[in-house]
Amino acid sequence: MPENNSSSPYVLILYYSRNGATRAMAKQIARGVEQSDAIEARLRTVPAVSPNTEASEAAIPESGDIYCSQADLTGCSGLILGSPTRFGNMAAPLKYFLDGTANQWLNGDLIGKPAGVFTSTGSLHGGQETTLLTMMLPLLHHGMLIAGIPYSEADLHTTTTGGTPYGPSHVAGQQHSAVLSDEEIRLCQNFGKRLAALTLRLL
Ligand SMILES: Cc1cc2nc3c(=O)[nH]c(=O)nc-3n(C[C@H](O)[C@H](O)[C@H](O)COP(=O)(O)O)c2cc1C
Repeated sequence: MPENNSSSPYVLILYYSRNGATRAMAKQIARGVEQSDAIEARLRTVPAVSPNTEASEAAIPESGDIYCSQADLTGCSGLILGSPTRFGNMAAPLKYFLDGTANQWLNGDLIGKPAGVFTSTGSLHGGQETTLLTMMLPLLHHGMLIAGIPYSEADLHTTTTGGTPYGPSHVAGQQHSAVLSDEEIRLCQNFGKRLAALTLRLL
């Protein structure tokens, strides 16, 4: 997917991924967003937190999506946050980034904008819902309007892998070996499509 820095409205898909599962979900969600001609998907990631908590790596990663800037966040019309589940919660690098968004909070930059969340876990009952729900909290403090997945999505009723009403999810397995299931892919894409439609209505 081409990097987009145009002035067109965009849904920011901001994620952290160590082993690639959350990144694979982000790409499917971006495909869903981009089913609309009127809005674009902007994929951004965050650096790992280093042992001394200060960034020690290059400002631009060697591969993959580039790091999210403050301007990427401030300028988005909608936001979708993705994280691996770490002990039933979001991963520290994403939390670290969010903890640096006091200016956006003070300025009210994200108030009234739609948002959603997604996660990947190692095991089926390893805390997907707790991660998704707690990822919503900082977004609510920012005044964002949270959207999940409605049960009109048939896959929510039948999935035996990921997929929750709180947002898309994926079960990657203990060896990170599980590819996204057909249900997970459809739920990611339709979630992206839903967030894009909501964003356009609220522009
Ligand atoms: C420190 C740590 C904590 C984890 N905690 C959980 C957990 O609570 N539940 C779970 O199912 N998986 C847990 N996992 C596994 C990851 O959530 C899983 O491998 C995920 O798919 C990784 O996503 P990624 O490929 O985008 O990095 C943990 C992994 C690490 C490294």
